[in-house]
Amino acid sequence: MNLSEAKDRLAHYGQEHLLRFFDTISQTEQHELLTEIAGIDFPTLERLIHEWVLNEPAPEKFDRIEPVPVIPPVEPNRADAREALDAGESALRAGRVGCMVVAGGQGTRLGFDGPKGSYPVGPITKNTLFQYHAEKIVGLNRRYGCRIPWYVMVSNTNADATQEFFRANNHFGLRASDITFFQQKMMPCVDDSGKLILEERGRLAMNPNGHGGSILALVDEGIVQDARKRGVDTLSYFQVDNWAVKVADPYFIGYHVSRGSEMSSKVHRKRAVRESVGVHCLCDGQYRVIEYSELDLYPQLLETTSSGAPVHFAGNPAIHILSVEFIERVYREFATFPWHRAHKKIPYINEQGQLIKPEKPNGYKFETFIFDALRLCKSAPVSLEIREIGEYTPIKQFDGDNSVMSARRLQRDHWADWFDAAGSPVPRNRDGEVIIDLEVSPAFALTKDEFVARARDKKWKTEGPLAIFADGTTASLLPLH
Ligand code: UTP
Repeated sequence: MNLSEAKDRLAHYGQEHLLRFFDTISQTEQHELLTEIAGIDFPTLERLIHEWVLNEPAPEKFDRIEPVPVIPPVEPNRADAREALDAGESALRAGRVGCMVVAGGQGTRLGFDGPKGSYPVGPITKNTLFQYHAEKIVGLNRRYGCRIPWYVMVSNTNADATQEFFRANNHFGLRASDITFFQQKMMPCVDDSGKLILEERGRLAMNPNGHGGSILALVDEGIVQDARKRGVDTLSYFQVDNWAVKVADPYFIGYHVSRGSEMSSKVHRKRAVRESVGVHCLCDGQYRVIEYSELDLYPQLLETTSSGAPVHFAGNPAIHILSVEFIERVYREFATFPWHRAHKKIPYINEQGQLIKPEKPNGYKFETFIFDALRLCKSAPVSLEIREIGEYTPIKQFDGDNSVMSARRLQRDHWADWFDAAGSPVPRNRDGEVIIDLEVSPAFALTKDEFVARARDKKWKTEGPLAIFADGTTASLLPLH
């Protein structure tokens, strides 16, 4: 796009101020700014400004909100679970399953200098989230004799750093040709009056377009085509910050494929109605996830049973399976996909060219969420309940709820159970809390049964911190903190 085309387009949408400093920036910056302007989806943006910024949208109204039907947590001896395992394992062995991780977010709350996936989450090994997820795939490949392709979604904010991180770590033992990076699009932020924002004289304030943007990127960047070429028709979706997530869980895949689901979700049981997770429910018969920030709009979602438990208990841990065909259909229908707004403090360049860091929210960022695809399913989505321990440890910040520290505690308890079962009991304090750090490489064992079987000829000293590597060797480096 050249300057005069940019002027025309901006004038059409009332955003001419973006070129205010054009004459004062370098040629490279001019080129980059024009490229950013050319990439903006102005019709969508105009609609969002109209609906979300210049007007206060009325919340959707529903006559009926009902709990979603949920498959109870897997019990290996239950007949339906045995059948699901069979179906899931067959799909994995046949090479029908791929994995996708969304890792394009900005990770602002964690405040870590680098892609969130490169956060050294292991308390002893300092192994990163990416390494942990990669080792899960190594474990699955070994168990099922397959080569699961791994699709890694990045964004403009971390694409280069992420790819370099994988290269520097030799792709964590996976074949480079089985890992494909794909980039989601960015969405411009707007101020409270609907004007686009310059964060530098020649750069727009933008954010990645949300994990729902994966639907667009999977098709635009050729991922679904690659999947089809490899014979993959089912994708296991997870988020990079869930350390414990079971990647391509055979039970979950089995329920998904055998019930003809297009998109399936794991759900976890909320303990309190105000727990800060989205809720899976049926709104006038349509599958929805209502964000926790919207709970007050729908009082039914605050109802409790006589024992005080939430009636709508199906919390959203953001673990899904999507069929490739479904992704292609949602892509075609993406114009109907809902957007969400967040009021944020967005630094900006004022008319005098100075950088201002606002103290209160001054503008909006727009995002799409993958769970909104559930409402487009033609067949009933499968919802499988999980027990949080060993499956759900999202890392949003360093300490507190959903943090590095809480995740380490949960993982420690999870693995302590494995060590106990393998005949290497773990020391606990009087309250029963595990008092040493523990880590187990998923490439050594993916499940407790696998761990016990592989540990048969091993006796570990569990008086101090203990990490088990992929090959069964150990380290005991750091004290508990
Ligand atoms: P979050 O919404 O928790 O965002 O993303 P975040 O980037 O990790 O952290 P904050 O909110 O800035 O502190 C949940 C998951 O979705 C991915 C993230 O990388 C994370 O795995 N995500 C989020 C994307 O891939 N793209 C996005 O545009 C947004």
